[in-house]
Amino acid sequence: MRLPNLVAIVTGAGSGFGESICQAYGAQGAKLVVADLNVTTGEKVAAALRARGYDAIFCAVDVTQNKAMEHLIATAVQHYGRIDIMVNNAGISHANQPMLNVGEAEFDRIFQVNVKSLYLAAQHCVPVFRRQQSGCFINIGSTAAVRPRPGLTWYNGSKGAVVLITKSMAVELAPDKIRVNAINPALAETPLLTTFMGSADTPENRAKFTASIPLGRLGRSTDVANAAVFLADPASEFVTGVCLEVDGGRCI
Ligand SMILES: NC(=O)c1ccc[n+]([C@@H]2O[C@H](COP(=O)([O-])OP(=O)(O)OC[C@H]3O[C@@H](n4cnc5c(N)ncnc54)[C@H](O)[C@@H]3O)[C@@H](O)[C@H]2O)c1
Repeated sequence: MRLPNLVAIVTGAGSGFGESICQAYGAQGAKLVVADLNVTTGEKVAAALRARGYDAIFCAVDVTQNKAMEHLIATAVQHYGRIDIMVNNAGISHANQPMLNVGEAEFDRIFQVNVKSLYLAAQHCVPVFRRQQSGCFINIGSTAAVRPRPGLTWYNGSKGAVVLITKSMAVELAPDKIRVNAINPALAETPLLTTFMGSADTPENRAKFTASIPLGRLGRSTDVANAAVFLADPASEFVTGVCLEVDGGRCI
């Protein structure tokens, strides 16, 4: 076990990467708070984790709302007594399209979910980590922050912010022994896939994107989950400020 009895909150855990991260963390002995806006899928993931014998509760959260984030952090502390790992995974994108076609409301929502959530998580989680003099954040960025694709400009910018905030938080919080890292996944097989592709999920359309990934396949949520275990593992205690590409070589 690499995460025995460590307490982890995973946002956006009702689907895709977040669900896989919860499964991988549970298998490594972590206790989980499955957090999502979608109560149905979040409850389902938490129930599946418990069915495997893992310790897991569900907490409804909209990561853009201060009170909701405060409630999430308080719930974890009340239930488990501490927090060791905060995975800021919840994220959304506009569909792949010309940049001027994305409306202002959609732009605002993307930055609220992808960027403001980091601010709110920090506001409520850093005091807990400081009290403990330990804890780590793992932010889910994207290769979009490093090697942006056309048609995703505003999403790309939001993930650029995730990368810079990760590094800035890492250096500011290091004296408190709080680590902050990010994972930059490549295009992966999750429900967000067609949003990013901006086209139907056909073998031909997939092939266009796979061609830009040297290892020759799209990402899988388990790729991201394995990286999330590595970054949370106490054996990674000297790793901070890293934005780890898990991308089959896409960013080379
Ligand atoms: N799938 C990809 O190709 C890919 C690539 C790089 C980065 N990412 C990033 O990975 C993360 C997870 O993406 P995914 O593909 O697993 O997506 P997904 O759509 O499968 O899951 C996202 C989850 O976040 C939840 N969510 C959305 N808004 C929320 C909010 N305001 N509060 C709480 N929960 C909310 C959704 O209900 C959903 O369960 C995102 O940050 C995304 O930008 C995805």
